[in-house]
Amino acid sequence: MQIKNICCIGAGYVGGPTMSVIANRCPDIKVNVVDKNEERINLWNDKNLENLPIYEPGLDKIISKCRGKNLFFSTNISENIAKADAVFISVNTPTKKRGIGAGQASDLKWVEVCAREVARFARGYTIVIEKSTLPVRTAEVIKKILDASISKECKDNQATYFDVLSNPEFLAEGTAIKDLEAPDRVLIGGERDEAILALSQVYRNWVPKEKILHTNIWSSELAKLSANAFLAQRISSINSIGALCEATGADVREVSRAIGSDKRIGSKFLDAGPGFGGSCFKKDILNLVYLSKYFGLKNVADFWEGVVTLNNWHQHRISQLVVKKLFGTVTGKKIYILGFAFKANTNDTRESAAITICKDLLEEGAILSIHDQKVKPHQISNDLGISENKEANALNENNNFELEGQWSFSEEIDNGFILADAVIVLTEWDVYSEINWVEMSKKMRAPAWVFDVRSIINQSEVKKAKLNFWRIGDGS
Ligand code: NAD
Ligand code: UGA
Repeated sequence: MQIKNICCIGAGYVGGPTMSVIANRCPDIKVNVVDKNEERINLWNDKNLENLPIYEPGLDKIISKCRGKNLFFSTNISENIAKADAVFISVNTPTKKRGIGAGQASDLKWVEVCAREVARFARGYTIVIEKSTLPVRTAEVIKKILDASISKECKDNQATYFDVLSNPEFLAEGTAIKDLEAPDRVLIGGERDEAILALSQVYRNWVPKEKILHTNIWSSELAKLSANAFLAQRISSINSIGALCEATGADVREVSRAIGSDKRIGSKFLDAGPGFGGSCFKKDILNLVYLSKYFGLKNVADFWEGVVTLNNWHQHRISQLVVKKLFGTVTGKKIYILGFAFKANTNDTRESAAITICKDLLEEGAILSIHDQKVKPHQISNDLGISENKEANALNENNNFELEGQWSFSEEIDNGFILADAVIVLTEWDVYSEINWVEMSKKMRAPAWVFDVRSIINQSEVKKAKLNFWRIGDGS
């Protein structure tokens, strides 16, 4: 069996880039990406590539090459499922907000809706592929829904039958295209060789054979959750050591370099920062915690829950120490936030540490000016739950108590420095490492502070500007 027509349900951060790369690398395969969100689909079809709904370096080039040729975005879900011989499910799987497992288990309602839609509209043999990150044994649920539809009806006299595969995605935002073009591995979990082989053939168009791993379906589902848990655990580990560095006179960058030189440990994911954000780490670990508890493994659950607990504590630790350094109060003081995305090179703010830190500071009465290279002000309003107040940009020299707890967006990097008491670097956008501190310090209100939570600022330049300087994990 050869896959010739793909339908991907979910045109998000995973569905969009993944299908674009498949379309680019497999010109003989027609790829239809569908979504129920019409606004998002319109943006994917926008002539102006600046308006694509997600920002990923290199994505615009692929879209301009493939869109309208073998890559299509639409809201026509039923028709595209019917035409497909492989359907990827790439919808969101957030943490459940209510009911059994609330706060930990994944909410699978959208995955189930997709399974029912595939069951209803598929024609002939169809491979259904889990691309979303899912709890172990979700494939069983999908298969049951699909199989129930077969026994109910014989559609257009075509025998419909299904295979379900797990093919989790390991891309990281900001480097999605690079990760998809040259993956460390492609993981395919399944039961029947025919289906596994058919999907492997798609990836074989550009991925070397030895990088395509075949496992049973449950190992594949669990490997995805475990990979994210291991990565997040490293960040909590280094952030915990960073706090200890600050207390003891050590430097977390030096500690990272020393421990990362050990080949058994490795150097990646050892950068101390404001705490991990992103839509997945927290949700996937909590899912692992839930699964462990469900299977009676309380010690396993406690171990992984600690990774999230430390991350939460760490984010609040940053805001608390800013308040402490600013003479114990930030009420009516202007603080300039550099970076709101959860990491550089993305416009995604989901679970960004900046949200927690900004909320804490607003609660303390600070007046925030916020800059980001790609995040739009309306997104920040949604995340903070407070609308932008443009007046929060125009402060008096002395007393601005009437603007307490307000924030405004700074379109130009330079403007946000005006009368700021402190600057906090929360996202590692390249442009922030090029700031002329001597010039900017002239705009700020002395005695002013620079808090570098990403270790990207040139310390000697800041000191030359006679600004107070604090850096994550620096106890010197
Ligand atoms: P997303 O929220 O950006 O996109 C999901 C899309 O699915 C949305 O546009 C939504 O409208 C659509 N959708 C939901 N239900 C639908 C339905 N029934 N029919 C049609 N469309 C529907 O999410 P994402 O970041 O792309 O994540 C998707 C999955 O991939 C999650 O399980 C996530 O854990 C996993 N994942 C994400 C990343 C990442 O970097 N974001 C990386 C690897 C894995
Ligand atoms: C992460 C994983 O890296 C991907 O493999 C996975 O596919 C994806 O989650 C997912 O399942 O969603 P992503 O969240 O996009 O990717 O980005 P990361 O580069 O992992 O960064 C996550 C967070 O950790 C960011 O807030 C980042 O700033 C932070 N981080 C990362 C650090 O604080 N220190 C580091 O050393 C690395």
